[in-house]
Amino acid sequence: MQHERVLVLDFGGQYNQLIARRVRDLKVYCDLKPCDMTIEEIKAYDPIGIIFTGGPNSVYGEGAPLVDKAIFSLGIPVLGICYGAQLIPYLFGGKVEHAETSEYGKREFSFVKDSPLSKDIPQTSVCWMSHTDRVTALPAGFEVLAATQSCPFTAFGDLKKKIYGVQFHPEVVHSEYGNKLLENFLYEVCGAHGDWTMKGFVAEQVQKIKDRVGDKKVLCAMSGGVDSAVAATLVHRAVGKNLICVFVDHGLHRKNEPEEVMQVFRDGLGMNLVKADAAELFLSKLKGVTDPEKKRKIIGEEFIRVFEKESKKIGAVDFLVQGTIYPDVIESGKGKSAVIKSHHNVGGLPDVVDFKDIIEPLRDLFKDEVRRVGTELGLADSIVWRQPCPGPALAIRIMGEVTEEKLATLRDADYIFREEIAQAGLQRDIWQYFAVITDSKTVGVQGDFRTYENVIALRAVTSVDAMTADWARIPFDVLERISTRITNEVKHANRIVYDITSKPPATIEWE
Ligand code: XMP
Repeated sequence: MQHERVLVLDFGGQYNQLIARRVRDLKVYCDLKPCDMTIEEIKAYDPIGIIFTGGPNSVYGEGAPLVDKAIFSLGIPVLGICYGAQLIPYLFGGKVEHAETSEYGKREFSFVKDSPLSKDIPQTSVCWMSHTDRVTALPAGFEVLAATQSCPFTAFGDLKKKIYGVQFHPEVVHSEYGNKLLENFLYEVCGAHGDWTMKGFVAEQVQKIKDRVGDKKVLCAMSGGVDSAVAATLVHRAVGKNLICVFVDHGLHRKNEPEEVMQVFRDGLGMNLVKADAAELFLSKLKGVTDPEKKRKIIGEEFIRVFEKESKKIGAVDFLVQGTIYPDVIESGKGKSAVIKSHHNVGGLPDVVDFKDIIEPLRDLFKDEVRRVGTELGLADSIVWRQPCPGPALAIRIMGEVTEEKLATLRDADYIFREEIAQAGLQRDIWQYFAVITDSKTVGVQGDFRTYENVIALRAVTSVDAMTADWARIPFDVLERISTRITNEVKHANRIVYDITSKPPATIEWE
């Protein structure tokens, strides 16, 4: 079944994925595509509406990404946001100019004319602005719909042609009625019905996988992370015992993680789940290695080797399941970026497994949708809301050489951190939080004795997509409890520090 869908054309704005997520939250399927999509491609995509995202350029600047004006003659409603809004008058002969002062942050704006966009939104409310250029004259056929004190064309449109522009960012939470405005665009302007729900998605996918797999064999590398767990559970629901999952226990997982994976998936759901015990092997390969990139490489390579060995035992399979999600497949069209860290995930597996085809059931989903599918499938919050954990796991949270002793100290400290965050009810407010064992020892005094032990660092960040992050403002009393508990309950830790660096300049993980 083809869902009704909206096309979000990406002009490089920092909130581009957020726009797409908001549309999907409003139960309309959408894709984020590069803005240079051709008219033929757009027609073939057959959207019920098109949204232009914001972007860093000036419409009149050299090399600014534009669109073929023919896009406005397709009879498909258009909503331009920020740069995307300026593009519309620019292409129709209006005026866009550089303003002397930029406008950032919250602004009060008022609707000056009713339109389908303003349905059920108070006449005056707060929106979030982030721009320097602004529209100074509208082309013929367009009328002003809303204004702030300093931005006379905050919203405008050609109501007959269903072409709208908003200077502010309706997708960010600081725009009070932003979500309602997007909803109005989808339902009042584009005539959406809202056929994109996770319940429907699960039913469709299970049927699709059943039809595709029949009684053939499927293999899945289970990492314990949300994506592979949800992908495996979905496939398991479709094909039962014909799915074989392999969990590589590299001995670098967080406290209780391997046990939980086995309990939930093998014992609870009855999955055909094999655990490859490779802790000793990984530790021996990591002996004496201190360079972060070397650690990452060794773990990535060994992981593939262990998986290959296990899959040889299983023999040829027909399909390999991958937990690829939508942000992994979006073509942003941006240039190549520098390699900051060589990420390890299970993407390298296709080369070593004897299989015919790949199943990627989550390929169309954003992370929050993956979580909702997990909940829909009955997975517990502890799995569905698990924080992202890097492939090399604790090895890159141990500065310097990875040893059993450091692993034990870190596991216990990290566990306490997680327990206290949960106790304080902060799990969902903080994007990722974990402990790090630094390569420094300091002097302390514990029970009248001098100690010379490890410094543990706490890292907690808020983020949307891990590309940028800010350190989380954890209340002092919660930090105090964590510090007291770790120094009291964990061996070989006598000092706790809190990391107050954003990304950039730091990264989220320490290595
Ligand atoms: P950084 O440290 O680069 O991390 O700011 C960004 C996000 O990516 C996670 N991360 C990884 N994920 N394999 C993964 O699948 C890896 O090798 C890896 N290294 C970092 C990190 O936990 C954060 O969420």
